[in-house]
Amino acid sequence: DWTTGNVIEEQVARIRAQVGDGKVICALSGGVDSAVAGALVQRAVGDQLTCVFVDHGLLRAGEAEQVEKDFVAATGVKLHVVDAVQRFADALDGVSDPEQKRKIIGREFIRVFEQAARDVVAKEGSEGGEVKFLVQGTLYPDVVESGGGTGAATIKSHHNVGGLPDDLAFELVEPLRALFKDEVRAVGVQLGLPEAMVYRQPFPGPGLAIRIVGAVTPQRLEVLRAADAIARAELTAAGLDRDIWQCPVVLLADVRSVGVQGDGRTYGHPVVLRPVSSEDAMTADWTRLPYDVLARISTRITNEVPEVNRVVLDVTSKPPGTIEWE
Ligand code: XMP
Repeated sequence: DWTTGNVIEEQVARIRAQVGDGKVICALSGGVDSAVAGALVQRAVGDQLTCVFVDHGLLRAGEAEQVEKDFVAATGVKLHVVDAVQRFADALDGVSDPEQKRKIIGREFIRVFEQAARDVVAKEGSEGGEVKFLVQGTLYPDVVESGGGTGAATIKSHHNVGGLPDDLAFELVEPLRALFKDEVRAVGVQLGLPEAMVYRQPFPGPGLAIRIVGAVTPQRLEVLRAADAIARAELTAAGLDRDIWQCPVVLLADVRSVGVQGDGRTYGHPVVLRPVSSEDAMTADWTRLPYDVLARISTRITNEVPEVNRVVLDVTSKPPGTIEWE
């Protein structure tokens, strides 16, 4: 019968049988699926695995560190970090169209990951043994949705973009294929992964770039990251994390409004809070957060983030609104 202990044991055995003494790579996104998949493979084959983390600079406060420090400390995984922050900033410079942002981020991600994979392959290959396997955090619902076949090695990047070129064709290792999300979380806890990673709410692959309405700049990212960190901290402190599906914080970077602070007039930007309740993100309702929690979030953001002088609440269900603003 089903226990997380059994699942781990069984998957460890399967992974060992599949990869033998071959080498494996795994792309970490900061999300729970890739983290648990990577941790399981690490448990099974240790240093035959290299994890790759592309830091595109679009994650929320503390998330890159979670991967680079906490995940590594918890698993002992061998990690290859690519600092692509400047590259993504350059590629996104001046772009405000949402689909254009997604396209650019997807394209850059693939390019950077490909190069990283080549680097890992070259390095590991020179140490004997080719890199033949790519880990993917495919869950059972993904398998059902896509008709159940195991395809060629496409990166199911969180950006829903293309495959790897032929000279980088890997065989897939998918240790989460039989699991639902809550089971994946249970396995993650059992493997000792950081709570913040295991219980992370869904977060879009294009990250904060699609939560800035307007062009993405490093300064705007910094503002949004600060406001988002406050909202998250207050929701966590109020014990609401598991009641909410997601709570995007959106920066209306091209909108300004007049405010007053102390003796002075301000002319700052609004941020939108978008707390939603949902089962599967296909439909959603706006979450009726307690007023005092909303008040604390608003007070803190406007006090602590100088560029933001107004906090507004999105009270639209999905449909007609989407969860994200872009
Ligand atoms: P929407 O905004 O369409 O979002 O109601 C539904 C869910 O999907 C997430 N989302 C994305 N996830 N890449 C992703 O990996 C994307 O481009 C993307 N856009 C939206 C969103 O956070 C929500 O969970």
